[in-house]
Amino acid sequence: MTDKKSRNGWGFATRALHVGQGPDPATGAVVQPIHLATTFAQQGVGKHQGFEYSRSGNPTRSALEENLAALEEAKHCLAFASGLGAESTMMLLLKPDDHVVYMEDVYGGTFRLFDKVMKRFGITFTAVDATDLEAVEDAITPSTRLVWLESPTNPLLRVVDIDAVSEVAHSHGAMVCVDNTFATPYLQQPLHLGADAVMHSATKYIGGHSDVVGGAIMTSDDELEQRLRFHQNAIGAVPSPFDCWLLLRGIKTLALRVERQSENAMAVATTLESNRAVQRVHYPGLESHAGRAVAQRQMRLFGGMVSFEVKDEATALRVLEKLEIFALAESLGAVESLAEHPARMTHASIPEAERKRSGVGDGLIRLSIGVEDAADLVADLEHALAVANA
Ligand SMILES: Cc1ncc(COP(=O)(O)O)c(C=O)c1O
Repeated sequence: MTDKKSRNGWGFATRALHVGQGPDPATGAVVQPIHLATTFAQQGVGKHQGFEYSRSGNPTRSALEENLAALEEAKHCLAFASGLGAESTMMLLLKPDDHVVYMEDVYGGTFRLFDKVMKRFGITFTAVDATDLEAVEDAITPSTRLVWLESPTNPLLRVVDIDAVSEVAHSHGAMVCVDNTFATPYLQQPLHLGADAVMHSATKYIGGHSDVVGGAIMTSDDELEQRLRFHQNAIGAVPSPFDCWLLLRGIKTLALRVERQSENAMAVATTLESNRAVQRVHYPGLESHAGRAVAQRQMRLFGGMVSFEVKDEATALRVLEKLEIFALAESLGAVESLAEHPARMTHASIPEAERKRSGVGDGLIRLSIGVEDAADLVADLEHALAVANA
């Protein structure tokens, strides 16, 4: 474990490698041990070394939580069994008649949680285009407790001005939680932009190797942390020690991976923009992107996600079938490149009219760019587009 003081001056890559990951004091092992124990012996009733029962707390999970908190420069982090485990725990802080305003093109599973689960408990939701500050302000009511943002969004890579929306939300007494999955803490730190909490699907860039499902919430608000900690234990959506260890292992290369993914994504987006079979490219790094200036201000680089539109669904499905390097698969953020069709896959749980209204059309393809050679990714896409349009 690292001394809290020493991490303050460290850069991101150093924190990723060393916070919570120091040599094991018992053995000197340089890799964090996996503590499988479900229960911990007490020296007398209530006298223990910080751990009692693994749902309430586990040393491998604590190491991960310490590390993730340092990545977002937050005081606290709580790790969960999945991104949706984190989201549902956050939602259970709300009560009947509370109202939530959310960015309209959130991840489909987030929409499903709001629409099909939380509404049953009397919580109400309003979707807005959060790139429009007036729309956010108009949607807020005296019952609004939470503004839920994603930036860049999934799958249209729209960029929300987190600072500006947080100011509006706070002026009405609502808190702000940002799903920072797409950006990663390496590219964007929403707590420094005014958000009260950050949520991650750690399944994506944080794990980075398509081999672990996980989630996290970070906050510097002590009271919020206490309420979340109570619900984390009460609901029990906690990650296994092995999953925590896999996440810690993945985090060691987070900065390296995201640098390369962002570089590759820019090469892919630029090429796609000049391809005649492509109608539109969504990538915050392109001059043509409406949110570029905000992205430049609040992100270190533009990230590894690119979406593009071809003329119709049949063409999109043909392109996806013809890709050789990109695997046709849901999920994102891993070292290998993936491609998917949001309308039929990740966003299929959103009713068609709602999906189309938010701009997720049938010809849209979403790419998660990996760390392969950029030239090979570009060639794979150009070939698939040429064959699909022949
Ligand atoms: C932006 C975003 N948020 C949340 C989630 C949910 O995370 P998980 O699949 O780890 O439950 C996902 C999953 O794809 C996602 O893409």
